[in-house]
Formats: sequence, C-alpha cells, structure tokens
Amino acid sequence: MIVLGIETSCDETAVSVCNNGEILSNIISSQIIHSEYGGVVPEIASREHEKMLNTVTDKAIFESKIKINDIEGIAVTNGPGLAGALLTGVSFAKGLALGLGVKIISINHLEAHIIANLLDSSDIEFPFLCLLVSGGHTQLWLIKKLEDYILLGETRDDAAGEAFDKGARILGLGYPGGPEIEKHASGGNYKLVDFPRALSRSDKIEFSFSGLKTSLLYFMESYEESSSISFADVVASYQRAIIDSLINKIKLAIETTGINTIAIAGGVAKNSELRRQLSSIVDAKKIIFPNLNYCTDNGAMISYLGEIKFNLGKKSNMNFGIIPNFQI
Ligand code: KG4
Ligand code: ZN
Repeated sequence: MIVLGIETSCDETAVSVCNNGEILSNIISSQIIHSEYGGVVPEIASREHEKMLNTVTDKAIFESKIKINDIEGIAVTNGPGLAGALLTGVSFAKGLALGLGVKIISINHLEAHIIANLLDSSDIEFPFLCLLVSGGHTQLWLIKKLEDYILLGETRDDAAGEAFDKGARILGLGYPGGPEIEKHASGGNYKLVDFPRALSRSDKIEFSFSGLKTSLLYFMESYEESSSISFADVVASYQRAIIDSLINKIKLAIETTGINTIAIAGGVAKNSELRRQLSSIVDAKKIIFPNLNYCTDNGAMISYLGEIKFNLGKKSNMNFGIIPNFQI
C-alpha cells in the first residue's frame, strides 16, 4: 500500500512515500539555522517545520511519481521529541488524512530508527541486538521480532550523540557535533589522550558520558596545540573514548544473550569509527549497517514502519496526541 510518512520530532522536516516496502521518495530539509546557536532551539524548530511541511510533502509526492490521491495511509511521528515540533507534524498529518479520507497511524520515533535496519536488509534474522545511538538516546535493545523488544540497558546521563555535540562545542567545532568530530579526528592518534571509558568494569549494560565530557573540558583548559599532541589527536582520542564505551557494552550484551547479530540505529550510527570497531568484534555477516540516509532523522523510516503497521491491521484514532517522552 502507498503510505506517506512524516517526521518532525527535532530539527529535520522529513517526508517520504513508501509502497510495498519500497521507498519511492525520502525528502529531508535540515534546519541549519540552529548551528548559529550551537544546538536546537525548540521554538525555532517548530516555526521552521511549519514553513517547510507543505513544500517537503509536495516534493516527496512529486519525486515518488504518485498522485496525492494515490496515498492510502499516513504515518506520523508522535514522540519522543520536542513537543512543539511534534505538534506541527501531527497536526499537518491529521489535516491531510482528513482531507484525503485515508487512515492515519502514529509512530514511535525510536522504534522507527530500529526498524530502519530492515529497509535494506529485509531478510535480517530475528533475534538481533540493536544499539540505538541518537542525539537524545543511547539504548541497547534485544529485538526478538517485530513489535517485541526488550530494553537491555541505556545511558544514565548524556546520550552518545550529546557527547558528540557537547564535546564539539568544548572543542570549538560546529553543530551537529558528530560529523564535525568525525572530520577533525581524521589522521589523529587516539592513543595520545587517555579519556575515561565510564562503567567499563561494571557487569551491567549501561552507559555514562557526562564524566567524559567533563574530562574533555578540564583537558582543554590547559591544552595548547603542540607537535606531541595535535588537535586531531585530542579529537580522535575523545571520539574513540565514546566508541569504546559503546563497543564494551555491545560485547557484554553478546556474551550475556548469546546473540551475535548486531544492528545499529540513530544519527551516531553514521560514524565510521563506530562501524570500524564494530566490524572488529563481530563477523561481518552478522552486522547490519543501515544506509547512511536512514541513520539520522528521516521520513523513510516512518513511512516504512507505518506501512508495516497498517498491514498488521493497526491504525490510530484521529484524537491521538503527541508524547514528547514516548518510550518504546
Ligand atoms: O537520530 P538523530 O538524527 O536525531 C535524534 O533522534 O536525536 O541523531 C542526531 C545525533 C546528533 O547528536 C549528531 O551529532 C549525531 O547524531 N551524529 C553523529 C554523526 N552524524 C550525526 N555522531 C557521530 N558521528 C557522525 N558521523
Ligand atoms: Zn532520531
């Protein structure tokens, strides 16, 4: 069936058309205005979605080569995310569904990130482990089958994406921090600064990144670039500390569950050092790397999961609301 997916939970206005599991279009308008402020300003995000939703939707329909009246269902993110931003997408989706006389379904953004792994690997074998690493979440999931997920552990404080974003700010780099850190770490020696890997000796699956960020702050207060430790060395060391913390707990999850098929999801899943380190601990055939376009926020994961849920006979009542702190 033809499903239009709408995603506005943070600073990406994203719309996609999916038909029988195939993504026909995936349009993303990123709000670069937030880089001036070093982070997402919620009020500005809502206003930008409001401005862009019509245009992005038109483009998604145009690129998919369908007609607006071909749409059979609408899927929209209703949480977790920024309340005002979510409201713009949900209101727009409801208006469109009412206007077209089609069904609507609310989608959990985190579940969509996880299921985005099936987009290019629909033959993926259940069960698998999924490390969900985004700007707001760091969680390790056991995915038993569709709609049957067990949370194995999560972060106690900052998310991995936040560690990248806040670290980049301390390092004087731009926003979002992940791609900036990845770029500036290139060529650096990750062994030259010994940043902490929190909870590495704990036998619990949990993460913590706030101490790492503080140790970077203290380090930078007295750091002067020299030939013995270049800026790239510092950035590479910081990046590697984040990645090692993630990898340590993936290893622990493999040991405790006996499952060694691993997927990654969320914006940080774009990181090439994470992908390299994961490849070094797991047989390549057992790793699912989502397409880079489906890691950061996108509409494809929403339209795709929406179609799956419609096919399972699910749909939402028109009176559903937003859930800013929605858990899976
Ligand atoms: O999934 P996402 O687009 O939005 C949320 O749902 O939060 O993730 C955004 C996060 C940001 O923290 C950003 O810095 C991080 O993903 N990110 C990266 C990379 N690209 C984006 N982190 C590390 N390396 C990257 N290449
Ligand atoms: Zn996300």
